[in-house]
Amino acid sequence: MLKISDLVKEYPGGLRALDGISLTVSEPQVVAVIGSSGAGKSTLIRCINRLVEPTSGSVRLDGEELTTLSRRALRRARSHIGMIFQEYNLVERLTVMENVLSGRLGSVSLWQAFRRNYPSEDVSAAFELLDRVGLKGRHDDRADALSGGQRQRVGIARALMQKPKLLLVDEPTASLDPKTSRQIMRLIYELAHERGTPALVNIHDVALAQASADRVIALSDGTQVFDGTPEGLSPEVLNDIYGEEDWSATIRKVDDDDNGDENGDTEAPVEKSKPAPRDIVRNGAVAE
Ligand SMILES: Nc1ncnc2c1ncn2[C@@H]1O[C@H](COP(=O)(O)OP(=O)(O)O)[C@@H](O)[C@H]1O
Ligand SMILES: [Mg+2]
Repeated sequence: MLKISDLVKEYPGGLRALDGISLTVSEPQVVAVIGSSGAGKSTLIRCINRLVEPTSGSVRLDGEELTTLSRRALRRARSHIGMIFQEYNLVERLTVMENVLSGRLGSVSLWQAFRRNYPSEDVSAAFELLDRVGLKGRHDDRADALSGGQRQRVGIARALMQKPKLLLVDEPTASLDPKTSRQIMRLIYELAHERGTPALVNIHDVALAQASADRVIALSDGTQVFDGTPEGLSPEVLNDIYGEEDWSATIRKVDDDDNGDENGDTEAPVEKSKPAPRDIVRNGAVAE
């Protein structure tokens, strides 16, 4: 499915954010990518669909080399890669339904979209997905009337509208409270398995990664320092990744206390979109 070989990203100025990453995801599994801020997690995800251009190396999705595609071919390839973002990236003034349908923009013509003339099978697929992500009946609400957790549910539905071959997910819960974070990660996990879609999920929360992934990959300074099951993340391994700390409180399965609480986001709806945590530039390095 996804085969990354010797992937290198050197940013202008010479910083090697990825220093030869090789990684194969050959089954529909959820792969959590962990590591400290600046480890290269976002760069890795973005090099796959070339939101960041890799310096060298290979990325193959279902046998197709992505790193050398022309712009036009890249646009087509991207329409098969679903992306879920930390800040949701919804169009705030549009309805939930319009946001979800925009997932099909790679496939319907701009004219069809402009006329809101989506094929009826797309509209029924969107209703089905909204139901599945816990937003039944919310299709006409404006995106800016939703809570953060609900917005991320829309983001997930929009990504799945693409019938993606691969899901790329960058810190999906970084703007959410802990309980909502667990619900969102569980939803991503369930949907990836239901649909047989592999997912690469950047997440800095170790306990959440352990509880909601089939496999964990750890990056440190652009190199891969761990690839294994969540259970394999011992205190020794975590010390290697993050430095010395008491990991006994972190290494635990996240409890299942939110079962059956389908859409029970614990936050109140927000009036305006919260400002996204800005990258802070320090000494020429960008930290989150
Ligand atoms: N556009 C950029 N230009 C220069 N350096 C960058 C850029 N984006 C990220 N970096 C640097 O690359 C490294 C990896 O960043 P990033 O992939 O965002 O890490 P993470 O997502 O794990 O926090 C960091 O040292 C960061 O400062
Ligand atoms: Mg990042």
